[in-house]
Amino acid sequence: MRINSPKLNIMHRACMKASKSLIRDFGEIEKLQVSAKGPGDFVSSADKRTEKILIEELLKSYPEYGIFSEEAGKINEKNKINRWIIDPIDGTSNFLNGIPQFAISIGYEENGKILTGLTYDPIKNELFFAESGSGAFLNNTRIRVSKKKNLKNSIIGTGGPKSNSKIKNEIFDEFLSVSKNVDIPLRRFGSASLDLANVACGRFDGFWQRELNYWDIAAGIVIIKEAGGFVDYLDNDPNNNKKYSLIASNSLIHRELHDLISKKNIENN
Ligand code: IPD
Ligand code: CA
Ligand code: CA
Repeated sequence: MRINSPKLNIMHRACMKASKSLIRDFGEIEKLQVSAKGPGDFVSSADKRTEKILIEELLKSYPEYGIFSEEAGKINEKNKINRWIIDPIDGTSNFLNGIPQFAISIGYEENGKILTGLTYDPIKNELFFAESGSGAFLNNTRIRVSKKKNLKNSIIGTGGPKSNSKIKNEIFDEFLSVSKNVDIPLRRFGSASLDLANVACGRFDGFWQRELNYWDIAAGIVIIKEAGGFVDYLDNDPNNNKKYSLIASNSLIHRELHDLISKKNIENN
């Protein structure tokens, strides 16, 4: 594994330790699915167990760093400079239903900018990681975004809307609008961090989704950039809003995808 910075080392170690417990828990899901109680409570405790290991490991090495994690919220809030952004299980609905498509995702932010990212799929044993200025990797191999130039023959991923979204219709309209302009049907795999990793390694040519959380995308932002791709946001300032409506791509199809989604919005207004 080409991990040579101390920060990535710590992230990697924390992630590997947490993933052991996560894989064990995933093995229990099948049994729970047939039980009367169902796997719901178990999954939320698996989430918390994974998160606890990640936080303990990261704080062991950098006790003064801030943490912003999906379940635990903010820790060491005084530290505005260095922060870990954590999603202990990204793809919870998949996990809950025994579908092997979920990840642990960790971003490291310095002065508001994500500098290091790591997303690990424990089932496929695929570790995606990147550090600003050093390229992006999948396990031992350098990764690059795809070279496709036309949206028409691209593979595009998306996700959402969440059940409580207030803009469901707009999101469905966008889905239709992009669907009508691609030959290969859109992919919806249910783990945004892995969707972004898929763009970074060229399996997807693009991805967009509205109303994501910071922990869903933190690692992916730097992994895609370092793989030569492009990330931008649909109609808000990424630093001032809690939700992120993001488009990520190989950069070559970006304008086409972006225009299609924003055009739909203009028509709606
Ligand atoms: C979810 C996944 C999913 C995306 C949702 C996210 P979670 O994260 O990333 O792909 O569509 O918007 O909330 O809840 O499984 O951590
Ligand atoms: Ca998530
Ligand atoms: Ca999660």
